Amino acid sequence: MNIAIDGPAGAGKSTVAKMVAEQLGYLYIDTGSMYRALAWAAQEHQIEIEDEQAVSELLKNNVIHLKRDSAQQRVYWNDEDITDRIRTPQVSQYASVVASYGAVREQMLVLQRQLAQVGNVVMDGRDIGTHVLPDAEVKIFLTASIRERAERRLKELQQKGHQTDLAELEAEIAQRDKRDMEREVAPLRQAEDAVLLDTTGMTIPQVVDRILQICKRSG
Ligand code: C5P
Repeated sequence: MNIAIDGPAGAGKSTVAKMVAEQLGYLYIDTGSMYRALAWAAQEHQIEIEDEQAVSELLKNNVIHLKRDSAQQRVYWNDEDITDRIRTPQVSQYASVVASYGAVREQMLVLQRQLAQVGNVVMDGRDIGTHVLPDAEVKIFLTASIRERAERRLKELQQKGHQTDLAELEAEIAQRDKRDMEREVAPLRQAEDAVLLDTTGMTIPQVVDRILQICKRSG
């Protein structure tokens, strides 16, 4: 059984997807980290983020690996472990820019389907239920109010020692969602056969339980 979890920025997809995968003994695959890796590399190599051709060439000529290190997924750009460098607000914005490029998405799709070939995966992203794994047995569209998503992100960033404010985060999230929903290739939207889960006011264990119940019904 494969499980696809999609939704807007900051809805808690990676946190709950990781926990669901652990509970079921499945492999967790965070596809957002792949777009983030490319965005980070473009920034690192001083490639103009608006230059679609150059960004897509960059991906073609390098390798993104996801490796499992105990419970954590680590992201590699060629041989370099960049896991701890891809969560900055700048990389988030750049990731949604590179994710709007058709040639980039085509390459990512191939990589992501290869990763899912082992079966029994929990994959999270924006287009998993609609494009990457359209036959996934369980599809969840996870969302929450924009205020709550910004508050959750604020806490996460503060814990990591980043300085930022709520209004700024809310604006950033709204801008990223807009770009993700309005792009031409594989935009963010709920698959017709996905279960909508609005997690506003729910705790993480409640969300995980709800998803596990949905899996049980489908399994
Ligand atoms: O999920 P995360 O916030 O790490 O994703 C970063 C960006 O990568 C998103 O804003 C989106 O533009 C892009 N993305 C995507 N398709 C996916 C996963 C992520 O377009 N399947």
